[in-house]
Amino acid sequence: MVSYGDGAYAAGCADTTRAGRGSGQAEGRPGGQRGIAAYKACEVLRRLTESGHDVQVVPTEASLHFVGAATWSALSGHPVSTQVWNDVHQVPHVRTGQAADLVVVAPATADLLARAAHGLADDLLTNTLLTARCPVVFAPAMHTEMWEHPATQENVATLRRRGAVVIEPAVGRLTGADTGKGRLPDPGEIFEVCRRILARGTAAPDLAGRHVVISAGGTREPLDPVRYLGNRSSGKQGYALARTAVARGRG
Ligand SMILES: Cc1cc2nc3c(=O)[nH]c(=O)nc-3n(C[C@H](O)[C@H](O)[C@H](O)COP(=O)(O)O)c2cc1C
Repeated sequence: MVSYGDGAYAAGCADTTRAGRGSGQAEGRPGGQRGIAAYKACEVLRRLTESGHDVQVVPTEASLHFVGAATWSALSGHPVSTQVWNDVHQVPHVRTGQAADLVVVAPATADLLARAAHGLADDLLTNTLLTARCPVVFAPAMHTEMWEHPATQENVATLRRRGAVVIEPAVGRLTGADTGKGRLPDPGEIFEVCRRILARGTAAPDLAGRHVVISAGGTREPLDPVRYLGNRSSGKQGYALARTAVARGRG
C-alpha cells in the first residue's frame, strides 16, 4: 500500500496504495503478491481504511490467484490494476509512487523482494516501488527455506540498506503441515508499523545505528527464598517502547 498526506496511506499485499491529502482525492492502490498469506492483507487494508486512510491496492498478477480484483476494489473503494497499460493518460506507472505517503508490500513474496532489490519494473507494483520516495514497508511471507536462502537474505539486506523497513516474519504454522519462520506478521503488527511511520512523517530516523535494550514485564524482588514483592505489569508498555525504537531506527 502507499499513503499520501496526513493520515492517509495505502497498504497492500505485494500491493501499493496511496491516499490524497487535503484535496479530498485520497486514493489507494493495494496490490497483492502470489503468496497464500494474501488473504490476511484484507485485514491490513480494512484497518487502514477504518482508520481514515485512503488506500490504493496494486496487486501483482500472481496474487489474484489468492484474492481477486473484485475483493480489493470493493474493500478499498478504488479500481485496481496489476499493470501499467490501464488509464495510460494518467501515467499510473509513475503517478502512484510519486503521490504516495507510504507503500506497504504485504505479503512480500521471495519473488517480489528479489525484483524490488534488483530494481525491476515489470508490473505496476514494481514501477511504483521505483518511483516512490516515501517510506516503504515490506511484510515478508514464505516458507522457512525460502526466507533463509542466502539470495533472499541478501535481497532483504539490500532493501534495508536503502532505507526500506522489512518486518521480520513470524514463526508458526506455514502453508503446508510444516512450522517455522516465514509466516506473515500479524495484520495488527503490520498496521502498527505503518501507523508509527506515518505519525513520524518525514522526521529523520534519529535512532538509526543505535542499540536499544528494553526490559518488559513484571518485577519480582525476593524477600527471602520463598516470598517476593511483585507487580502485575503486562509488559505491553515495554513492547510499545521497543516497537517505537525500531520505527525510529529504520526510517
Ligand atoms: C499455493 C501457493 C502458495 C505460495 N505461497 C507463497 C508464499 O507464501 N511466499 C512466496 O514467496 N511465494 C509463494 N508462492 C510462490 C509464488 O506464488 C511465486 O513466486 C510467484 O511468482 C510470486 O509472484 P509475485 O511476487 O509477482 O506475486 C506460492 C505459490 C503457490 C502456488
